[in-house]
Amino acid sequence: MRKIIVAVDGYAATGKTTTARGVAETLGYLYLDTGAMYRALAWYLHQQSFTEAEIERLKPDVLEKFALHMEPEGCELVAWVGERRLSEELRLPEIARLASVISTLPWVRAYMVQEQQRLGQKGGMVVVGRDIGTVVFPEAPLKVFFIASLEVRVERRYQELRQKGLPADREAIRQALLERDYRDETRPISPLRPAPDARLLDTTCLTIPQQIERVLSWVKPLITVPAISFPYSP
Ligand code: DC
Repeated sequence: MRKIIVAVDGYAATGKTTTARGVAETLGYLYLDTGAMYRALAWYLHQQSFTEAEIERLKPDVLEKFALHMEPEGCELVAWVGERRLSEELRLPEIARLASVISTLPWVRAYMVQEQQRLGQKGGMVVVGRDIGTVVFPEAPLKVFFIASLEVRVERRYQELRQKGLPADREAIRQALLERDYRDETRPISPLRPAPDARLLDTTCLTIPQQIERVLSWVKPLITVPAISFPYSP
């Protein structure tokens, strides 16, 4: 079996993260959520009382003390900053907003892309983000780009926050998603868009198991080494 990179990109709240994790579990691959890396930097800056309004003040030397490492836990790579393991705190709306803002900075992107390429150099990884098929792993044999209607995305994010007992308001979620879409699509560096050879996956009417099944059906022919037919002549 070949161990490939599966590049997964797309809009927020389209189910790409949950699907990618399921695909990685089935294949015995590692799963890397690159959004968590941008969120980890946002969390680190937030800890230092840094706000969106101060973005102009942010300089690349901040990365020297930002001790990010992605540690495997089962099939997942979990973000640590120094001694602190990060998970739920990365999902807070203020961290999501700050992550979106800092991800427009070219030197932040250069740092993250380099780290992601290093982590994926051996293959056997499902990598999720916004620029994986276009910038991080343009040679990936399979690129999937997730889309879904805005209504469905708002509802999914709303239910996700409610389940976690966090405050949730549909209109605020809609506005936040629209703002992030706009910022992700229009930033000059690595804007969110499908690679020319990406397969589009519209998840509006699909369940998570159906999405996982669809992606696996695309992966399988790419990793199966063709059987040698006999008589064999090299
Ligand atoms: O996927 P996410 O919502 O966790 O991502 C958080 C932010 O990071 C999002 O606004 C876009 C940005 N991001 C990015 O620019 N490139 C990536 N590869 C992953 C995330």
